[in-house]
Amino acid sequence: MDYKKLPKEQLLALLAEEQKSFKKLQKEGISVDMTRGRPCKEQLDLSVGLLDTLKNSDFKSSGVDVRNYGCPEGIKEIRELFAELLGVRAEEVFAQDNSSLSLMYDLVQFAKQFGIMGSTPWNKLPAVKFVCPAPGYDRHFSICEALGIEMITVPMLEDGPDMNLVETIVKNDPAVKGIWCVPKYSNPTGITYSDSVVERLATMETAAPDFRIFYDNAYFIHVLKDTDDKLKNIFDVARKAGTLDRIYMFASTSKITFAGAGIACVAASENNIAELKKRFFFKTIGPNKVNQLAHAIYLKDKNNVLKLMKKHADILRPKFDLVDRMLAEDFAGDEFVRWSKPNGGYFISLDVKSCAKRIVELANAANVKFTNAGATFPYRIDDHDMNIRIAPSVPSLQELEFAMKVLISAIKQARMELVLKKSFAHTFE
Ligand SMILES: Cc1ncc(COP(=O)(O)O)c(C=O)c1O
Repeated sequence: MDYKKLPKEQLLALLAEEQKSFKKLQKEGISVDMTRGRPCKEQLDLSVGLLDTLKNSDFKSSGVDVRNYGCPEGIKEIRELFAELLGVRAEEVFAQDNSSLSLMYDLVQFAKQFGIMGSTPWNKLPAVKFVCPAPGYDRHFSICEALGIEMITVPMLEDGPDMNLVETIVKNDPAVKGIWCVPKYSNPTGITYSDSVVERLATMETAAPDFRIFYDNAYFIHVLKDTDDKLKNIFDVARKAGTLDRIYMFASTSKITFAGAGIACVAASENNIAELKKRFFFKTIGPNKVNQLAHAIYLKDKNNVLKLMKKHADILRPKFDLVDRMLAEDFAGDEFVRWSKPNGGYFISLDVKSCAKRIVELANAANVKFTNAGATFPYRIDDHDMNIRIAPSVPSLQELEFAMKVLISAIKQARMELVLKKSFAHTFE
């Protein structure tokens, strides 16, 4: 509905009616948390068998007793499995414990403290900057903020970051040391980088010789629909171009097995892996190899992982479909309310210009929680106050239906309030 075309009295009446329905929803006493992209219980239950895998095992991996210290780069089987999944070589995989995010933090921290391959430690430089495509993953931006790295926002387009801008920035400023990328089913917009974006990232000219692409491949195998987006293998491109050292690729089994007890890895050139081994030598005498072996036995190979991911998709798809259907019922064709329809990943990205903060605030008042508006932008600055990240994985379908009723009502109220404020500012309280 175009609220702008309505006379003030009619709009006020419509708003009052919407507020009345909203109050009814508030009284239902349901709470829904959609702040983060977590797997739901049914998804976690899929991998409980993992805990039985070691019952009859001799705890050996290529002669190494996984219960003991050692093997800082991770066990052979898990390195081979990630290599097969990510399209890299086993020697290029450094597998650790739970959480790729913690590896990302470590690698930025190492660069700050020690530099990379002999470069000046970033701590000793007057400024260090990262390119941050936005909307993007809030935790990437939090790492930059926590570690004092200046963020340069570049727009996220339909096929990846605005590469014209990225190329200009990294070519001209040696203080720009990195870029955050979620190349497949990106968080939150759900897009996958085009071949051209991958090629340009791998081959662009960088002023900083120790520039690194923090290539967070969190959703590399997390397809929801029949069509799986194709992501060009950046390792293949960089290998040919002689730029392999610039890539740190991250992945984990957080959304394959257990988000709280998975395996994470960084895939990188053998030069980078050699340096990582040196850095980790002082940090740990080895990762949790018992969990790595359990994962290797349980997950077996790519084919088996794909079968498991299909089960995840069967649980998640109805939830994504519900969000899409309910938004479409109210806002199909509405130029002010736009949302993504991703083929995979964990998020639906909703854009409602100039209203995001108010919508999240209203939803909160009905106990439906979203990530704070603005969180998907560096420094939480969403210039157009428009992006909201919907994470539909955790709630049940019934809870999700309730949450969507709240969200839809919040969108309508926020937009009516905005029109009233803008068009009738002199008389609207
Ligand atoms: C883009 C992205 N990277 C990383 C993570 C966290 O990964 P991990 O559980 O391996 O730390 C998430 C979790 O939502 C994510 O969306």
